[in-house]
Amino acid sequence: MSKNSLAEEHEEAKPISEALKRFKRSRLVLEPSLGVLGFFLVCLCLLWSFFYFDYRSAAKRYNLSDKSDRFVWLKLENNKSSTTISSNRVGFLEESGDKCDVFDGDWVWDESYPLYRSKDCRFLDEGFRCSEFGRSDLFYTQWRWQPKHCNLPRFDAKLMLEKLRNKRLVFVGDSIGRNQWESLLCLLSSAVKNKSSVYEVNGSPITKHTGYLVFRFKDYNCTVEYYRSPFLVPQGRPPRGSHKKVKTALKLDTMEWTSSKWRGADVLVFNTGHWWNYGKTIRTGCYFQEGGEVKLKMNVDDAYKRALETVMKWIQTEVDSNKTRVFFRTFAPVHFRGGDWRTGGTCHMETLPEIGATSLVSSETWEQLKILGDALSHHSNGSETVKLKALNITAMSAQRKDGHPSIYYLGSLGPAPLHRQDCSHWCLPGVPDTWNELMYALFMKQEASSSRRVKEANVTVS
Ligand SMILES: *[C@@H]1O[C@H](CO)[C@@H](O)[C@H](O)[C@H]1NC(C)=O
Ligand SMILES: *[C@@H]1O[C@H](CO)[C@@H](O)[C@H](O)[C@H]1NC(C)=O
Ligand SMILES: *[C@@H]1O[C@H](CO)[C@@H](O)[C@H](O)[C@H]1NC(C)=O
Ligand SMILES: *[C@@H]1O[C@H](CO)[C@@H](O)[C@H](O)[C@H]1NC(C)=O
Ligand SMILES: *[C@@H]1O[C@H](CO)[C@@H](O)[C@H](O)[C@H]1NC(C)=O
Ligand SMILES: *[C@@H]1O[C@H](CO)[C@@H](O)[C@H](O)[C@H]1NC(C)=O
Ligand SMILES: *[C@@H]1O[C@H](CO)[C@@H](O)[C@H](O)[C@H]1NC(C)=O
Ligand SMILES: *[C@@H]1O[C@H](CO)[C@@H](O)[C@H](O)[C@H]1NC(C)=O
Repeated sequence: MSKNSLAEEHEEAKPISEALKRFKRSRLVLEPSLGVLGFFLVCLCLLWSFFYFDYRSAAKRYNLSDKSDRFVWLKLENNKSSTTISSNRVGFLEESGDKCDVFDGDWVWDESYPLYRSKDCRFLDEGFRCSEFGRSDLFYTQWRWQPKHCNLPRFDAKLMLEKLRNKRLVFVGDSIGRNQWESLLCLLSSAVKNKSSVYEVNGSPITKHTGYLVFRFKDYNCTVEYYRSPFLVPQGRPPRGSHKKVKTALKLDTMEWTSSKWRGADVLVFNTGHWWNYGKTIRTGCYFQEGGEVKLKMNVDDAYKRALETVMKWIQTEVDSNKTRVFFRTFAPVHFRGGDWRTGGTCHMETLPEIGATSLVSSETWEQLKILGDALSHHSNGSETVKLKALNITAMSAQRKDGHPSIYYLGSLGPAPLHRQDCSHWCLPGVPDTWNELMYALFMKQEASSSRRVKEANVTVS
């Protein structure tokens, strides 16, 4: 290694000495040429500091209109794409947008984003308030998702709240689900003037690791709720007489205990995935149970399949298909590079997405996505089944290595050590806002087509 870098240094030094020789040969004295070189270096320094301070001050002010020249190319690109492609795109909510796959698209730079600012939203964990706790670049907040073949409706918080009047919207899942839930609280509450009219019904604060939280929007008599359930099936004490190495057991054929609380919701948003791995199950002594028996040999993928079966069956038999809409969000990729959490994996200093890259999803993640896809398609083919929509955000989020808190998740405690970065959760405002915009679009689409159906029914009746 050291030999290599030395060789490189020599190689880099060569052109300069040759240039100097050439200067000498052309009878230029050494001193002026050094002066030219010095002047050049000073200019470089000045230029660099100009850009640096411009960038710092733009970031500090959290000003949405970053006029820095460095990003003009992004805008130009965006202008080009929005004029050449967008004009022949249909609106997703229009009837002609029915066939559009909203998850197939690109991230585009959009100065009208973000849709809210973290300091204006009381409902965020410190761990997601990246810019308030040291992250100085804000470009990650200004990317909008643009489907290839249609345009998404802009998120309209008032309209969404109106649609949710007298209703319950419930998130069930792991902490990435919580990430998305907090994003939706911020998006919706941005349209509410009286901030104290939005509150947790039991007065609980937003802190990590509470079992569930229910926020009421008083003026709309609606609640937006979060139930923590990383596996969607319950984890508990193993049956008596189990092997000594079994510390806990996941009951794969049973629904999470809290399911009776959220069964009657009007909108259900599930997610699971980040805990279905060896490290968070078997390594910690957590094995899989079916009936009264712990299956010591069962692997994680099979257990994940069984659990999804249980969830899908529960949805079809326990959920009122006339009332409840069900979304299932796919796995959100992590971006640890060169290691894992605590083993040196990093995403710190990533400030731009990898636009257009398609091969960023790891093979394990694809495998998980396939298992979920099979479970979903197996359970959404009948006409009387509950309408179940996938929020297929895996591929789009894989492009957003710039969206994670990295070392800025400890809030007022200051930045975390570099070897303990968070490249799993997402800064807010940020990527989960897009997941909610897509959910909003699918929700409004269903509203639009059901009202179309009613209209058509009226026409045929009269
Ligand atoms: C950004 O700065 C301009 C002027 O420098 C100001 O008018 C505008 O309100 C600022 N925007 C935000 C969101 O702070
Ligand atoms: C982008 O287009 C808008 C009008 O659509 C124009 O006002 C703006 O100057 C354009 N920006 C660039 C960088 O060309
Ligand atoms: C508020 O919403 C609940 C359903 O979430 C409903 O049962 C109740 O009647 C509503 N209250 C009013 C005053 O409309
Ligand atoms: C705001 O909401 C709180 C809680 O519901 C209520 O007590 C208060 O009167 C409201 N304020 C206004 C100005 O409407
Ligand atoms: C759903 O509604 C239809 C008609 O409105 C009714 O016939 C059907 O029994 C309902 N299904 C359930 C599961 O309540
Ligand atoms: C999600 O999208 C990917 C392509 O990005 C596709 O391969 C996969 O089948 C989709 N999964 C579901 C559940 O829709
Ligand atoms: C629909 O799902 C059932 C199981 O719920 C399965 O037996 C059947 O083959 C599926 N039909 C199609 C067309 O996929
Ligand atoms: C359908 O007709 C009923 C009564 O005939 C009316 O109340 C309702 O508003 C109509 N719906 C639409 C969408 O036109």
